[in-house]
Amino acid sequence: MSIPRAAYPAPFNTTRASHAVLTVRDLGQSRAFYVDTMGFVVSDETADTIYLRGLEEACHHSLVLKRATAEPVCERIGLRVYTEDDLDKAKSHFERAGLPVKRVNVPHQGTTLHVADAVGTPLELCATMATQPRMVVQFQVFKGPCPHRLDHFQIITPEVQRASEFYAGMGFRLSEYIAVDGTDDLVFVFLQRKGNPHDIVFAGGPGPRLHHVAFTVPDAQHIIHACDIAGSHGFGTNLEHGPARHGPGHALFAYFRDPDGHRIELFNTHYQMMDIENEPVRWNLSYMRNRPWGLPPRARWFKEASPFAGVASREPPHPGAPFTLEKFLAECP
Ligand SMILES: [Fe+2]
Repeated sequence: MSIPRAAYPAPFNTTRASHAVLTVRDLGQSRAFYVDTMGFVVSDETADTIYLRGLEEACHHSLVLKRATAEPVCERIGLRVYTEDDLDKAKSHFERAGLPVKRVNVPHQGTTLHVADAVGTPLELCATMATQPRMVVQFQVFKGPCPHRLDHFQIITPEVQRASEFYAGMGFRLSEYIAVDGTDDLVFVFLQRKGNPHDIVFAGGPGPRLHHVAFTVPDAQHIIHACDIAGSHGFGTNLEHGPARHGPGHALFAYFRDPDGHRIELFNTHYQMMDIENEPVRWNLSYMRNRPWGLPPRARWFKEASPFAGVASREPPHPGAPFTLEKFLAECP
């Protein structure tokens, strides 16, 4: 195994993680969680769909919730490219890799491409989106933890190395990674285009499945406040992991499950990572057991994730044995 290097120049200019499209069973419950509790801004609402954005986001949506009766899924994760010309280059790039691309019309978005990446993650690429007022100084509308913007996705895949190489080929830079001690066998990879630690993370396990969508909040106090306000709104047990601090990426965080089981992360404290000489930061897998402080995630944080619509989950060749909260507690004297 080898640590992948980003293609430079990139074959097309991906600028950032943009949006996620999730299905939910009850839009009223979703609204109570995302809008009334978490403080997302509603950009548009129909009988079947709610379009949400963070307080600093000028683009129409970063989270699309669609009503469906079937098992809740993630339909797609969205990436932004810089120009329409980049969309044409992206189409050629994916087709050269044998990955069929479909041009589709999506409400509130410019020309949009649907394609799956090399490990089967359904993507939606667009260069433009309708805009809305940026609410970042409209303090009178701030609610709950005040999510400011979508930052990244985490995907579980049985093919972390393959995913890393594919995204490196798209020009994504590896900011940090976790490898099995003494080897370069990749367990987690943190890949970025926008100049902070990650736009997309791949972690080893059955997949592809969506592990979480992450949103920034202004400061640590808003992460604590998220827990308080979730408790007050009856979502206290939806807190799954944290508040605590990550090793990779350095973020303070809390993970919540929404009413349909989709996982969101609220975090802050990311750093800049754009200078060409910055080498990726390596973490040994044993870090999970030897973290400086805080509890490890419970087993379900590792195991459970949102399926992608119409995409079968594949098992990894070697099942992992993550250090879970349950193991930690069993070892406590
Ligand atoms: Fe994350």
